Amino acid sequence: MKRIAIIGGDGTGPEVVAEALKCLKAVADKVGFAYETENFDWGGDRYLKTGEVLPEDAAETLRKFDSILLGAIGHPDVKPGILEKGILLNLRFALDQYINLRPVILYEGVETPLAGKGPKDIDFVVVRENTEGLYVGTGGFMKKDTPDEVAVQESVNTRKGVERCIRFAFELARKRNKMNKVTLCGKTNVLTFAWDLWERTFHEVGASQYPEIERDYAHVDATCMWMVKNPEWFDVIVTDNMFGDIITDLGAVIQGGMGIAAGGNLNPEGVSMFEPIGGSAPKYTGLGKINPMASILSVQMMLDQFGETKGAKLLENACIKVISKKMKSMGAGKMGMTTSEVGDSVVEQIEIL
Ligand code: IPM
Ligand code: MN
Repeated sequence: MKRIAIIGGDGTGPEVVAEALKCLKAVADKVGFAYETENFDWGGDRYLKTGEVLPEDAAETLRKFDSILLGAIGHPDVKPGILEKGILLNLRFALDQYINLRPVILYEGVETPLAGKGPKDIDFVVVRENTEGLYVGTGGFMKKDTPDEVAVQESVNTRKGVERCIRFAFELARKRNKMNKVTLCGKTNVLTFAWDLWERTFHEVGASQYPEIERDYAHVDATCMWMVKNPEWFDVIVTDNMFGDIITDLGAVIQGGMGIAAGGNLNPEGVSMFEPIGGSAPKYTGLGKINPMASILSVQMMLDQFGETKGAKLLENACIKVISKKMKSMGAGKMGMTTSEVGDSVVEQIEIL
């Protein structure tokens, strides 16, 4: 019996999670997957009411679960940063979810802004380091609020953190067995400390343990260019936290938008957390316009991580049917169906597949 913690969060988060859970139930019934869920009301509303971002024992509580499904974090009445850092980043760090896995797949029938590119060209995965880099929150001010003010924000990269991330990327390329290629996305020409460590680790690990996997390198700026011009060159991209954050928004756009982009914050040895990569989209709250597909696909990633390969495949196939045959667009309010109709259609496909 798997225990799954549910954090609907803010804005449209709870709505998309509701659809994802509908689909999870349908898959579980079909393949005999046993699970139970427990809800947590963490997010902006609770913070505004109680003044507490997260209960003190939040990470401790979550460690007792097998996985976490998250909707979205970000509330219009709360200053940007408080909830993002206090909930999302806090949990990623506390649970040592050191990989942020973000597949970039253009499904059949989905519109991409890239002219002349189709599903066969856009199918890669970004492995984003998720617990280090510029996200650690070290640094500080000097002479704050004076004309001589200094602000320092440090990027922390450890051999251990870099190595486990790179190793994960090589393992993934091997498992995909598609182009057998890992591209390191960095900035070796300017950030000569951090990316020296990354580059050395990349070649050491690759040459000694993954000789059959091609090692490729691209600067982060060039990566953005290639993702638009030649996305078919990529198989697995591995990068640090900040660059990974940036390039995966670009990735989401070329695969059809935030409505369809799913991700997983993984601790392969611990508790992982799955979420749509888009935000809480507060202006759409309660209107039935938001696309739940990213949340549904994050459940597919969760099933995959549980080793429920059959259920994961079934869910993905059901999503593909709905995406390519039923939905008009991936954009909020343009789907040609409501949020819950998308969930219902996926359930319908699960039942007939
Ligand atoms: C993401 C988000 C977060 C990040 C924010 C909300 C803190 O943009 O998951 O990509 O920067 O990691
Ligand atoms: Mn982001």
